[in-house]
Amino acid sequence: MNLILMGAPGAGKGTQASMIVGKYRIPHIATGDILRKTVADKTPLGLTAKSYMDKGELVPDEVVIGIIREHLSKSGVSKGFLLDGFPRTIAQAEALSQMLEELGKKVDAVVNIEASEEELVRRLTGRRTCKKCGRIYHLVVDPPRSPEVCDICSGELYQRSDDSETTVRNRLKVYQKETFPLIEYYKKKGLLNVIDGEHEVEEVFEDVDKLLKNL
Ligand code: AP5
Repeated sequence: MNLILMGAPGAGKGTQASMIVGKYRIPHIATGDILRKTVADKTPLGLTAKSYMDKGELVPDEVVIGIIREHLSKSGVSKGFLLDGFPRTIAQAEALSQMLEELGKKVDAVVNIEASEEELVRRLTGRRTCKKCGRIYHLVVDPPRSPEVCDICSGELYQRSDDSETTVRNRLKVYQKETFPLIEYYKKKGLLNVIDGEHEVEEVFEDVDKLLKNL
């Protein structure tokens, strides 16, 4: 199963992605996570990426397209993949389509999770993530037992540097300008499926799961 998971910042892509890959056992390719790892490792790519990510801007297309090319050419994706946070521009979508054609693969479905702007801001400003296992929490909706420690692996919880309200508002503006047009792009290709992301996490997953079972 080859899937693209879309949605504005905070729509719940990472949360749903971990449930999807847990059930369907396909590799999770999340450009945001990959870029944050390059930033943490202080690689030259990470230094470039950080300057964009801290402002809530998109990292240049050629950088993320290169990352995806590398991941899609690995043998692990032979049984499928879940792309999370890619593509985010029409140029990225076109590059993906060409890459998949060269690899003899195609996208089976695009899942777009929707939520209102105020809900997105509320979710992002309350998010905490585990440094060790990546588990995502929300201080109000899905709080950890202790505010700084992961319930699962006792790893340290942190707030992403791009989750301040000012940066979140800019990420949402960038999303509207650069990524929103992809909804129409995939609709025209007959691949788009819309999921209401404003329900509880498990209810959203039930809807996603229903959709995936019918593919
Ligand atoms: P990325 O890491 O992809 O961030 P994003 O798209 O902005 O999305 P988020 O990870 O912030 O949110 P999410 O939808 O995964 O929500 P989550 O599940 O965590 O990208 C970061 C940056 O990297 C970009 O700004 C850009 O600079 C760069 N980048 C990445 N990809 C790129 C690309 N392709 N091109 C160029 N640049 C790129 O949930 C959020 C919170 O809500 C959590 O606290 C969670 O617990 C809570 N929550 C989740 N679901 C629910 C629910 N149903 N009800 C209540 N709360 C919920």
